[in-house]
Amino acid sequence: MSWIPGSTSLRYGGDYNPEQWDREIWLEDVALMMDAGVNLVSLGIFSWAVLEPREGEYDFSFLDDIIGLLAGAGIDVDLGTPTAAPPAWFWKKYPAAHPVTRDGRTLGFGSRGMVSPSSPEYRRASAAIADQLARRYADNPAVVMWHVHNEYGAPISDSYDDYSVLAFQRWLRARYGTLDSLNRAWGTRFWGQVYGEWDEIDAPRVSASVSNQAQRLDFQRFTSDALLACYVGERDAIRVYTDAPITTNFMATNCPSVDYWKWAKEVDIVANDHYLVAERTDNHVLLAMDADFTRSLAGNRPWILMEHSTSAVNWQPRNIAKRAGEMARNSLCHVARGADAVMFFQFRASRFGAEKFHSAMLPHGGTGTRIWKEVVQLGSDLAGLSRVGGSRVTASVAIVWSIESFWALDLEWRPSVELGHRERIEAFYTALWGLGVTVDFVHPSHDLSGYDVVFAPSLYLLAEDDAVNIDGYVSGGGNLVVSYFSGIVGDNDEVPTGASPGALRDVLGLSIEEFLPLYEDQTVSLSDGGSGRAWADDITLGTASAVATYVDGPAAGKAAVTRNSRGSGSAWYVSTKLEGADLLSFVVAALDAAGVSYSAPAEGLEVVTRSGETEDFIFHINHSDAEAPLLAAGTDVLTREEIAVGGTVPAGGVRVVARPRVVGETAVRTDDIHQMAR
Ligand code: GLA
Repeated sequence: MSWIPGSTSLRYGGDYNPEQWDREIWLEDVALMMDAGVNLVSLGIFSWAVLEPREGEYDFSFLDDIIGLLAGAGIDVDLGTPTAAPPAWFWKKYPAAHPVTRDGRTLGFGSRGMVSPSSPEYRRASAAIADQLARRYADNPAVVMWHVHNEYGAPISDSYDDYSVLAFQRWLRARYGTLDSLNRAWGTRFWGQVYGEWDEIDAPRVSASVSNQAQRLDFQRFTSDALLACYVGERDAIRVYTDAPITTNFMATNCPSVDYWKWAKEVDIVANDHYLVAERTDNHVLLAMDADFTRSLAGNRPWILMEHSTSAVNWQPRNIAKRAGEMARNSLCHVARGADAVMFFQFRASRFGAEKFHSAMLPHGGTGTRIWKEVVQLGSDLAGLSRVGGSRVTASVAIVWSIESFWALDLEWRPSVELGHRERIEAFYTALWGLGVTVDFVHPSHDLSGYDVVFAPSLYLLAEDDAVNIDGYVSGGGNLVVSYFSGIVGDNDEVPTGASPGALRDVLGLSIEEFLPLYEDQTVSLSDGGSGRAWADDITLGTASAVATYVDGPAAGKAAVTRNSRGSGSAWYVSTKLEGADLLSFVVAALDAAGVSYSAPAEGLEVVTRSGETEDFIFHINHSDAEAPLLAAGTDVLTREEIAVGGTVPAGGVRVVARPRVVGETAVRTDDIHQMAR
């Protein structure tokens, strides 16, 4: 299954919650959807209480009606299963399905997403409603795809209820086979935690001090698997009746509890929700990172932006509204990075409930608003971009993303509170974004051979096989860039024998005698004129040589940045936190040494290419307040204008330049780098 059936263009629309409105509003909504060019809506995501008012009693009249109205208007349906919000009767009858937090609080009814994923009652009830929906609508031609649940893992994921404890014990038996092997893997001799029976093992609840870290890591893995089993249960119930694509909406870089590499294998099309962190001035860079990760999860096939917002959300500390043009820039950035569907939460703003202050395609103020006008314009722009659909983004540079490593690093009692995987990944991604380098994300077990450079900004946990894979990549000619506190532990958060960095010692050609975390405000100077913060290592060089040394600080005189030749490739190591211009120069050095070519755009200009069979589409998204030079000439797909060499993209504007497929890029200029590093 590669894409939504019946698509002739990019898909456009959003979540639609007609059960919150009277029928005359539906008629108005359907007409307005047509005005805006909407061709897909997600229905029924929170409708369980309406569809099954009493256990086993179904009432599909509202869905029949609205699907009929939408079909009459030529609008397709992405039919949701409503299982993120079980009805009141479910809780009355099955109170044991309530989730329990790590510190022992039972969470009550009244919001959503609050169920123990291991509750057999919930598994049964959710598969039953999915079965009923699929039985009724599988053959309805308007229902082109299925949307299971909503954002698994949010707002909570791990539950410490009795069902979860039993399911965890079963999961552990399957993983370890014997208690001996579990005791070894978890290092239970430490602090006297040895288990003699499976049923002695509890979920890792809040304890007097730090809990067993391997146990906590396994509980995260178990939780991701338990949620995935919920998805698979519903998906399989639907699959009995239809071959249409089935998916669920991810929160790619923003879900701390789900291993999406595993999940991506179970969906027919990857779908993602993205919301800006409104107060961050670089949120367009984080958006690009999220979109690149989503595309990578999708194996570079087209993906669905299932939700984003037309303007402000309602759940952040300060819900900053998007300025004119920002919504279009956001949407088209997702398209530039591989999305073939642009959807919002939600079509019509709610009058009641927790989300009444959240923006929508149709705001409370109606069709006279700026937002509505921009929504209509975006619909027309996406229709104009239809030939972009199906084209691909290629990248020669990758960043490693391993949620298991993040889970492990985030546990307590690490050598410094400054060890943030997210901070380092964002820092390296931002440097590459500024250089106009498109990035894929990879798991350390992936085939890396197609990449000129692979960055591992903070890869604390590295399973032995994955380390072998990375070593093979380098020996075979790849270029690896590793930052501090990487390759420190194996699969169970255990330190491998010998000096750090465990399984990366040979590939990096060095060993670390001691970690040297820095004081909060301490800065160390490097021999290349740069400086570092947060961290230093006491490095003993093996086959690697020093590219820069520490001038001062606890590692004065020792190597700070190193490079090792291995086989036909090379591996860099940076043992301190480089920022701004220092990090940029380091990234440029690594790219240049690997022969990666790229064209650095003007500051604030985002340039991404999607390649079709005969044409390249070069998206220029200008996030700055100044006009910027285009990096390509050709035809503007949005305006149909011919653009000669020397054309510009207006401040805050977007131009998509189509040109026959060519390869040829100019090298980055040093003055561009200095300008961007400010
Ligand atoms: C999430 C949910 C939606 C809605 C939006 C609001 O993405 O999936 O139902 O609550 O957040 O931003």
